[in-house]
Amino acid sequence: MDDVTAGTGLSTLRADREVTPLEWFDELRESHGMGWDETTGTWYVTRYDDVYDLLRDPRLGAQVETYCPPGLTEEQQKTYWRVTEFIDRWPVFSDPPRHSGMRRLLLPLFTAAAVARAAAAAADTVAVAGPAAAPDGLFADVVRPALAAGLCSLLDEPPEALAQLGDCATRILAFGSIETYDPAAGLRAEKALDELTELVRQRCAAPAGVLATALSRSLSDGTLDLLDATAVYAQLVSGALEPTAAAVAHLLEVVTGPEGTGLDIKADVDGTIDEALRLVTPFHLAMRRALTDVHIHGHRVRAESRVVLVLVAANRDPRQFAEPDAFRLDRAGARHVAFGRGRHACLGAALTRQVMREMVLELAASGVLEKLPPLRAVWNTDFGGRFVQDVVVAQDA
Ligand code: HEM
Repeated sequence: MDDVTAGTGLSTLRADREVTPLEWFDELRESHGMGWDETTGTWYVTRYDDVYDLLRDPRLGAQVETYCPPGLTEEQQKTYWRVTEFIDRWPVFSDPPRHSGMRRLLLPLFTAAAVARAAAAAADTVAVAGPAAAPDGLFADVVRPALAAGLCSLLDEPPEALAQLGDCATRILAFGSIETYDPAAGLRAEKALDELTELVRQRCAAPAGVLATALSRSLSDGTLDLLDATAVYAQLVSGALEPTAAAVAHLLEVVTGPEGTGLDIKADVDGTIDEALRLVTPFHLAMRRALTDVHIHGHRVRAESRVVLVLVAANRDPRQFAEPDAFRLDRAGARHVAFGRGRHACLGAALTRQVMREMVLELAASGVLEKLPPLRAVWNTDFGGRFVQDVVVAQDA
C-alpha cells in the first residue's frame, strides 16, 4: 500500500456508532493495525510492536504541525497562535536542539535523593491522614494531598504556590484542541499564560530550589527564554499529578476488588504498580510528526503527516499481553509503554513508581488497606486520556 488513500478512514470506522475511545482504538488495532483519519490529517498507530519501535524512531518529531481553526477573526487567530505556540514549547512537544537542552536541565531534578525525598513526603502525608480517613474520603483527603506533597518537595514549592501554578496551567490547557476550539476559552488561556509567565519570572529572579536555579541560569546565559521556562513549569505542574492520581485510583480498585483477593501486595508491589499503570495508561496518545516519508505497517506515511502513537492500544495488544484486560502479575518480559520510551520517555517514571510504592506500603503497614471495602474509581475518559474524578465505595460493597 502506498499512500494515505490506502488508510482505513477512521471516520468510517466510527461512523454512526457510539463507541468509546478505547473500543475504537482496540477495533482499529485488531482490524488494520493503523489507520488514517482524513478529518484531522492524522495516522493512528495502535499495535504494540509498531508503537514500541516508533517511540524511538528519529524520523518522527514531537512538534506537531498545527493549523488554525477556520472562521476566526484576526484577533482570535492571534490569541489562538499565542497559546498554541506556548504549548509547542513544552518539553514533550519540543524537538532538538531545544528539547535536548530542556532535558539536560530537568535531569538533575530527578536524582535518586530527590525522588526519595518526594516519595517520603507523600508517604508521610499518608501516615498522618490515612488511618483517620473514611474509605470514601481516602482518595480526595489523603491520596491527592499526598501526591501534591511529593510534587511540592520535588519543585521546592509550598502547597498554595503549587496550587496557583497548577491552576494557571489547567486554565491554559482548557483552551481545547483544533477540533473543539472556543475563542472565549482562548482568551481565558491567554490571561492564564500571562499570570503563569509572571509567576515563573518571579521564581527565576530570586531562585530557590533546583528547578528555579537551573532555569534562572539558562535565562542568564540565553539557552532558554522566559516562555521556555514557563513551558517547563507548565508541563511539570500539569503533567505529573493527574496521571499518577489515575494510576493510584486503579491500584486501589484492584487491591480492594476481586483481583485483590489473596493478593499479597508486599510480595510484588512493583509488579502490582506496573500492571495498574499498564491497565490505566492515563495518557492515551503520544503525538508525533513525520519528518520525512516513513513506511509503517505497509503504509507510506508522508513527510509532515501527524502520527499518533496510541499507547493505550499498544498496552492492551493481545499479541503482547495475553488476556490484556486482566490484572496479572505473571507478565514476565512484557514492557508496557505507559511512560513512553526513547527521547521523550517520561522523566517522572521512577518518581511515580517510588511515590506509589511508598504510599501503598504505608497504607498496608498502617492496616488501612486491609480494612478498605471494594472501591470504585469515577473516571473521566476521553480520546486523549483517562483521568479520575474520585474514588468511592463500590455500591455493591
Ligand atoms: C502515572 C504517571 C505518569 C505517566 C503515565 C506519564 C506519562 C508520560 C508519557 C507517556 C510521556 C511521553 C509522551 C511522549 O512521548 O510524547 C511523558 C513525558 C514526560 N513526563 Fe510523564 N508521566 C507520569 C508522571 C510524571 C511525573 C510525576 C512527572 C514529573 C514530576 C512527569 C514528567 C514528565 C516530563 C518532564 C516529560 C517530558 C519528557 C520529554 O519530553 O523529554 N511525568 N510522561
